[in-house]
Amino acid sequence: MRAPGLKRRLAFWLFGVLSALLVVDAWYSYSDALGAANQAYDRSLSASVKGIAERVYATEKEVVVDIPYSALELFEAGSSDRIFYNVGIPGDKVITGYEDLPLPESISPNSPVFYDGIYKGQQLRLGAMLKPLYRAEFPKPVLIIIGETINTRQEVVHHLFSREVARKALLIVVALAVALFATMIAVQPIDNLGQAIRQRPEDDLTPVTALGVPHEVKPLVEAINLHMERISAMLEARRRFITDAAHQLRTPLAVLNTQAEYALRQHSEAEMRPAIEALHRSLASAIRLANQLLSLSRAEPINGLMVARQAVDIAAVARDMVVELLPLAARKSIDLGIEGDRAPIVVAGHPVLLRELIANLIDNALRYTPENGVVTVAVDQAPDRASTARLRVIDNGPGIPAEFRAQVFLRFFRLDGSDYTGSGLGLSIVREIAHGHGGDITLSDAPGVSGLLVEVLLPLVEGAA
Ligand SMILES: Nc1ncnc2c1ncn2[C@@H]1O[C@H](COP(=O)(O)OP(=O)(O)OP(=O)(O)O)[C@@H](O)[C@H]1O
Ligand SMILES: [Mg+2]
Repeated sequence: MRAPGLKRRLAFWLFGVLSALLVVDAWYSYSDALGAANQAYDRSLSASVKGIAERVYATEKEVVVDIPYSALELFEAGSSDRIFYNVGIPGDKVITGYEDLPLPESISPNSPVFYDGIYKGQQLRLGAMLKPLYRAEFPKPVLIIIGETINTRQEVVHHLFSREVARKALLIVVALAVALFATMIAVQPIDNLGQAIRQRPEDDLTPVTALGVPHEVKPLVEAINLHMERISAMLEARRRFITDAAHQLRTPLAVLNTQAEYALRQHSEAEMRPAIEALHRSLASAIRLANQLLSLSRAEPINGLMVARQAVDIAAVARDMVVELLPLAARKSIDLGIEGDRAPIVVAGHPVLLRELIANLIDNALRYTPENGVVTVAVDQAPDRASTARLRVIDNGPGIPAEFRAQVFLRFFRLDGSDYTGSGLGLSIVREIAHGHGGDITLSDAPGVSGLLVEVLLPLVEGAA
């Protein structure tokens, strides 16, 4: 799923918020426009009401109204509105005009009031005023009402309102365009950065320069650079490894070649046989070297094998390995055994690599322990550390002097006097695998008179006992 772009997000929020504001504002604009229109038109309504009121008078017998043309004039000229008027004494009689016009809620003499009402299904704006007659025959005042339909008012309100809204909508559109344009400009440096990285030569892992990049984007540049540093460190390690491996393979291959030439120069089978036996031995150690190199490269973090872990019972793996290597032990009359009950000890790991780890340690013990020695493998929970598995391989061979215990983990490092079939990679592989599993390895003196104790600690699977 693609995450929405910055521009779209910005547009969404800006548009949403501004539109909501526009709606609220439109409501206020409408009531303002209505207020303004009413104020203007009520003034003429007031003039008309007062104009009629002036022409109302009473004789001894009756009340007379002489409606001036001018009072109704304003409603005519080109207007689509109709007017309705009524002059009469409330609750007594209608003097002239339309009956039943809506009445005001409250009114006081000589000052007009304005109100809205409905007459014959039409919306009206009405003005009303009471005029006292000051005559004993007519003690009640006359009520003058004029109502007009509101078409003209509505046109004015509509006109004012739509202009206001149109202006604000235009403002929103412009603001949106400006914001989008600004984002485009702001995002440009990121685009440029991407371009610059894409256009680099494949093997260029030098840091990206943060020049001209806005400071908000600097963390990204720094992260990219950190990542490139890691990659180049890995590549460097790999390059070193390949150089070492090539170097280490060249010698045994040259030796094999010489041995083969020597064997070919022999004439009798009796002379040839020892030469071929030597060739065979060298070949075996060249094969071992090649295998160890492959194991090492497999255990390297760059292969990502450690990422896909599964639950592995290393007690079972150790038992299997011991059984597998029993023939090798028997050849040197070494007493190879496993200690501990059959309770599973489960770690999260890569089964093939864990096998490799145990195989290398047992192989070392068998290889460097003289005939009739004793080699013991033990797997249990570390007694002094919570949720940690402990694998120990103990032999009673010569051991490794304390001053060399760090060096034996280096690639291709071998102690003087070790037989010449090893390649010096076993312990590097073991350490690489242990570290890859978040574990650790230590070498120490075996509890007996002589010998080596190798201890590997690996984290147990969460929750496994
Ligand atoms: N159990 C041991 N007892 C005595 N010395 C040991 C023991 N294990 C390792 N060493 C010494 O440490 C050196 C390094 O061991 P490592 O397993 O790394 O290489 P290797 O056994 O020589 O070769 P490889 O295992 O790659 O075939 C060995 O050459 C040996 O001298
Ligand atoms: Mg070894």
